[in-house]
Amino acid sequence: MLSGIGSWLPPRIVTNDELAQRHDTSDHWIRTRTGIVARHIVSPGMPTSHLAEQAGARALQSAGTRDIDAVLLATTTPDRLCPASAPKVAHALGLGGRPAFDLDAVCSGFLYALSTAASIIVSEAADRVLVIAAEAFSTLINPSDRSSAVVFGDGAGAVVLRAGTPDEPGAIGRSVLGSDGSLADLITVLAGGSEQPHATSPDGHDDNRYFSMRGRAVFHHAVNRMSEATRASLAHTGWAAEDVDRIVAHQANLRLLHSVAEQLNIAPERLVVHLDRVGNTAAASIPLALEHANRSGALVPGHRVVLTAFGGGATWGATTLIWPSLTCA
Ligand code: COA
Repeated sequence: MLSGIGSWLPPRIVTNDELAQRHDTSDHWIRTRTGIVARHIVSPGMPTSHLAEQAGARALQSAGTRDIDAVLLATTTPDRLCPASAPKVAHALGLGGRPAFDLDAVCSGFLYALSTAASIIVSEAADRVLVIAAEAFSTLINPSDRSSAVVFGDGAGAVVLRAGTPDEPGAIGRSVLGSDGSLADLITVLAGGSEQPHATSPDGHDDNRYFSMRGRAVFHHAVNRMSEATRASLAHTGWAAEDVDRIVAHQANLRLLHSVAEQLNIAPERLVVHLDRVGNTAAASIPLALEHANRSGALVPGHRVVLTAFGGGATWGATTLIWPSLTCA
């Protein structure tokens, strides 16, 4: 059961015009190819855990409780490769002592974490779980890669899940999750792991420490996988496409969101769009969009909502819920 929601964005806003001063691009290209108008970017030295802590604190406030049994952090940009960032975030939130772990499914991370948290609750290992998705994605962007620089932004969203019954508003439907490791090279940060521990190659290049994406191929797979996962999730729940009031898809690209809605025969007015203000915030994009829609009234109690995402790995997923009444923190 979804019982609290919060989000946080770093204060610095980078507009398309500002990016056009640094890259060979334009506000027109970025708006028409992606739908993005601005994004928030961390200041130097601001780690992902800071964003996660801010969003987590707001979700706890929204839930009206600090009685939490576990903390999950979905992120592609942990503070350090080791240890995980979740214990640090739990400690900062006054939740030390509870189990806390990171989960990386790139842009599908929030849906993977939501499903994991719901399963932990169903297994009765916990009554309440704080799920945070936080990204300082700008720290991975190659300063010379204009196509990534214009797309990605930083931010964090968080929800509190509590035990409940499947027919209550806020109950998370059965999640449809998937992966295909044969597509691992579509979205990469090659260096820094066990395969390539050193960021700088012997000839002095350090490009491998940056994020790289084969954008056009990702676009194609993302549309197909998000549409398939959504169809499967709707079938589990027993909803037809016309029953869906809101579709909250990973905020990768406005054209991509429209393609998914078209494939599913869902009217584009039912898409929740938040990427214009924040860009693609990877794992954080769905909870950021949900929080904004709840606050702005685009999501109201009783709405039948489907969530779907696609990310590096490749990974994907979808789930459904009836939107509950949630306090804005
Ligand atoms: N400004 C101006 N031109 C740009 C540009 C920019 N910021 N970025 C790329 N271009 C140019 C390319 O150089 C290319 O020029 P060419 O035709 O002369 O070679 C042209 O635009 C088309 O490049 P392409 O990479 O095919 O663009 P695109 O239309 O696919 O848009 C993305 C690029 C990244 C915006 C788009 O592919 C995308 O959003 N993909 C999906 C991302 C996604 O789903 N992610 C989900 C998981 S994170």
